[in-house]
Amino acid sequence: MGEVASQNGNTAMVVDMRSDTVTKPTEAMRTAMANAEVDDDVLGYDPTALRLETEMARIMGKEAGLFVPSGTMGNLISVLVHCEVRGSEVILGDISHIHIYENGGISTLGGVHPRTVKNNKDGTMDLELIEASIRDPNGELFYPMTRLICIENSHANSGGRCLSLEYTDKVGELAKKHGLKLHIDGARIFNAATALGVPVDRLVQAADSVSVCLSKSLGAPVGTVIVGSKSFITKAKTLRKALGGGMRQIGILCAAALVAVQDNVKKLEEDHKNTKLLAEGLNQIAGIKVDMSAVETNIVFVNVCESSNTTAPKLCKHLEDHGVLVMLENTYRMRMVIHHQITENDVKHTLSCLRQAITGASSEHIDK
Ligand SMILES: Cc1ncc(COP(=O)(O)O)c(C=O)c1O
Repeated sequence: MGEVASQNGNTAMVVDMRSDTVTKPTEAMRTAMANAEVDDDVLGYDPTALRLETEMARIMGKEAGLFVPSGTMGNLISVLVHCEVRGSEVILGDISHIHIYENGGISTLGGVHPRTVKNNKDGTMDLELIEASIRDPNGELFYPMTRLICIENSHANSGGRCLSLEYTDKVGELAKKHGLKLHIDGARIFNAATALGVPVDRLVQAADSVSVCLSKSLGAPVGTVIVGSKSFITKAKTLRKALGGGMRQIGILCAAALVAVQDNVKKLEEDHKNTKLLAEGLNQIAGIKVDMSAVETNIVFVNVCESSNTTAPKLCKHLEDHGVLVMLENTYRMRMVIHHQITENDVKHTLSCLRQAITGASSEHIDK
């Protein structure tokens, strides 16, 4: 996918599968950034930011949108808007990104209490368990009040699995029945919509807000857009400023994001095909295992069998020595993520390197 200078000064190819956040801006993005029309966005005048926010709201079927620096801030702001009363409770998955990887910001910064429900292997939470976790509104003297349900689609820690339209609608109905809001962490919502074959606006119809990352599988260098009702976005803008996320000439970033949305959503199907190719190839190598039922979008968790004579750190090191970067999870697990800058040849090269590492067979060299 890319080139880096190696120790001897020559350039070496690098296949970077650590995450879909590692992509480099394309030439089209760089040109758009260089030519972006900009103004002060804190004052509300940056035309390119307004264009991106309007376009994202239209695509997602919501009234309004707001550019924020990161997915973490997008989720934080959304949760805080829906839980404006301090001590509110949010129901969310026990291995959701918001719960595990966002520094507990909803509680440390927002005074929001997390009520976790077990995430199933497919990233869902049982509807009965969600309903049973909703606090009795008459118990105010003792309980934090439930105000929000959060789901994540696609679900990263479950290997990028997709929550179906039917499931999402049912969670939405449940939220409505109890007077709660529904937020979707849609960091990779376009992957889910593509894999499910459902229009993205229909997929998130039941949600009051969605946080959509531009810098993951869409390949923009920076940013997330949150979408929701006009009143939600008005409150979100105030919170963004309070959190230090109000930025000035952000048209530079939004111009790249507009190119990402226009050029890269249509490439996701190809990414998913390459992901399946990778997963199937990995499963044919003795000593490593991939749960194929979990491979629905662009993420592959690779398990190294304890009975094999190797470990994930050793395999990661071997791959790195051959120009392939992946994410180490633990002694027997690593993660690979496909994005638009990974080609079918990159996948074949990776498989060949792994085969060589495990069986000692010499790697077939792929022209890159
Ligand atoms: C599902 C999910 N949500 C939210 C985030 C947070 O995004 P950011 O890294 O832009 O803060 C990530 C990041 O990887 C993610 O995978």
